Amino acid sequence: MEDVLGYKGKSVVVTGAASGMGQAAAQILVDLGARVTALDINPTTVDVDRALTIDLRDRANIETVAASIDGPVDGLFSCAGLPGPPFSEWDTILVNFVGARHLAEQLVPKMADGSSISVISSSAAIGWQDHIKVITELLETDGFDAAVEWLTANEKKWSWSGYAYSKYIIDAWVGWWYPELGRKGIRINAINPGPTETAMMPAFQDLMGKETVDQAIGPVGRYSTPEEQAWPLVCLGSPRLSYVGGEVLWTDGGWNGAMTMGRHEAKWADTAAGEMSKNG
Ligand SMILES: NC(=O)c1ccc[n+]([C@@H]2O[C@H](COP(=O)([O-])OP(=O)(O)OC[C@H]3O[C@@H](n4cnc5c(N)ncnc54)[C@H](O)[C@@H]3O)[C@@H](O)[C@H]2O)c1
Repeated sequence: MEDVLGYKGKSVVVTGAASGMGQAAAQILVDLGARVTALDINPTTVDVDRALTIDLRDRANIETVAASIDGPVDGLFSCAGLPGPPFSEWDTILVNFVGARHLAEQLVPKMADGSSISVISSSAAIGWQDHIKVITELLETDGFDAAVEWLTANEKKWSWSGYAYSKYIIDAWVGWWYPELGRKGIRINAINPGPTETAMMPAFQDLMGKETVDQAIGPVGRYSTPEEQAWPLVCLGSPRLSYVGGEVLWTDGGWNGAMTMGRHEAKWADTAAGEMSKNG
């Protein structure tokens, strides 16, 4: 069978294409014959069709870049992200969710029946279902400025970790938005990666300590490579997965399953959930 994943000649947009998982996804999509538009605040080394600079913290810039992308867009791969410190909690929530959502909303009018949005969340989203009320308040905001307004008025509810909150909300967002997108034949899904060897990893290790990060290693027994995250993301976005929507795929080497069954302990997950309950 040729063109197994159905990307040949398809037009796709990849954010975060300068590094890590986004770079790996852009390369795989080029190799699969897609026409790739790469978006990042930094330059990409992948030999894509078109590379544009974008700052996902900047509403006007997102709109200008989105307007410059011709439709139809068959796939959006939302991979850009910040880890929290040393970056501010504000920049982190803006890049990881507010800007990512705004870009997706700008591109949806250019997406036809059969297209898809695939987002990178994180295994840090574990337990998001316990906090639906506070997550929904931000999900219900209409657009970039309204989201910033809510975040400003409710800083205490999320600023204990812009990273964890952004990942909680992405896992919720795919289920929240799919009922609307599905009517247009557009799918949205996410992956929840475990620890991965990318440029972001030192920031996690500096913040939490390597020992704590390593508690999120699943039964597979090691960190993943960027390609091991990019492949499931690219598979989720493939038209072959036409019956998979509003779904979160745990790409964590089995960690979530083991946690759920009480076969693995991770102290930081308890801490994150505790902070959310205290403040949310
Ligand atoms: N590395 C891990 O262990 C891990 C684990 C779970 C989830 N994730 C998530 O995976 C995704 C990809 O991260 P990665 O590990 O490949 O890290 P990375 O640092 O290698 O890549 C992140 C990319 O986002 C881009 N970016 C940052 N700020 C931007 C902005 N303002 N506008 C546009 N682009 C911007 C960066 O330039 C970079 O190319 C992120 O959402 C991250 O939260 C990472």
